[in-house]
Amino acid sequence: MEHEAETVELGRTNLRVSSLGVGTNTWGSRAGPDPDKRATFDAILDSGITLIDTAEVYGASEQTIGHCIRESTRRPAVLTKFAPLPWRLGKRAMISALRRSLSRLSLTTMDVYLLHFPSPPVSLETWADALADAVEAGLTRAVGISNCNPAQTRRVHTVLAARGIPLACNEVGFSLLRRNPEHNGLLNVCKELGVTLIAYQPLASGMLSGKYDSKHRPGGIRRLIYNSRYLTRIQPLLEALKRIADARGKTVSQVALNWILCKGALPIPGAKSPEQARLNAGAMGWRLTSAEVAELEAVDILPH
Ligand SMILES: NC(=O)c1ccc[n+]([C@@H]2O[C@H](COP(=O)([O-])OP(=O)(O)OC[C@H]3O[C@@H](n4cnc5c(N)ncnc54)[C@H](OP(=O)(O)O)[C@@H]3O)[C@@H](O)[C@H]2O)c1
Repeated sequence: MEHEAETVELGRTNLRVSSLGVGTNTWGSRAGPDPDKRATFDAILDSGITLIDTAEVYGASEQTIGHCIRESTRRPAVLTKFAPLPWRLGKRAMISALRRSLSRLSLTTMDVYLLHFPSPPVSLETWADALADAVEAGLTRAVGISNCNPAQTRRVHTVLAARGIPLACNEVGFSLLRRNPEHNGLLNVCKELGVTLIAYQPLASGMLSGKYDSKHRPGGIRRLIYNSRYLTRIQPLLEALKRIADARGKTVSQVALNWILCKGALPIPGAKSPEQARLNAGAMGWRLTSAEVAELEAVDILPH
């Protein structure tokens, strides 16, 4: 059933989106119409999620979303990213890439366009200027950055502000298992500048979903990264999440995502199925108490 979810303004852009979005870096395996992804797209919108995160380097993810948009009467806000690959050395490369992303997504205007990561020797100021050009050309409604530290965030904000354009967001890794945005001051800088911190891998690639532990390990590449030693080490955190989830009638994922909402950030958990999209949307509309937040943060074996 369709319902309204809580919304937030992305930065100071007047663009309102759900306080939790969805990530699609696993949506890129096939380029044609995909009924599973179409069903997930519908579940996303039915659950009140109105922000979809993609990137030109996520395989065929943009094309897959484009198919869904063409087939649907509803449309979420779409965020995609420019990859400043080593041969892309100037502003024109970004504008051409943005036009190609628009075409793949079947859109005439992007909602949010991001620089995917800093790329020395090209200066951040060059890319910030190109982002401003894209807004002025009417190619995107809002712009942002990704994987930028506090000083880099300030530099881009300054260039955009000089052209009267808000920096909508900085998308970085942030979860109960990756808390550096709190420790390096990025979360505070974003708050000070009115920039939304978008949290990618908010479930630590599924390790905070509650379904993995040292006896139930993920397959594929994640099996190498999240080995049984790692999962044993985070077990106390998984137990704390489960305690709170059971007491509240929520899922472990919902509690892990709600912790990010409590920090004032916007999580974009990946969803591989309609069920995952619906469950993740259930992290919205309520908040952990400060005692519950403190309980999660007191688990001091966390690797950051
Ligand atoms: N800007 C950047 O540089 C950057 C970098 C990385 C990612 N991102 C973005 O961030 C998004 C999220 O990151 P991510 O997808 O890598 O990691 P994530 O959101 O931490 O984890 C997603 C994975 O967790 C599992 N999952 C999700 N919801 C679940 C639920 N309700 N119950 C049980 N399992 C659930 C799924 O995998 P299984 O079912 O297979 O376990 C899913 O693929 C990406 O899709 C991408 O859009 C951006």
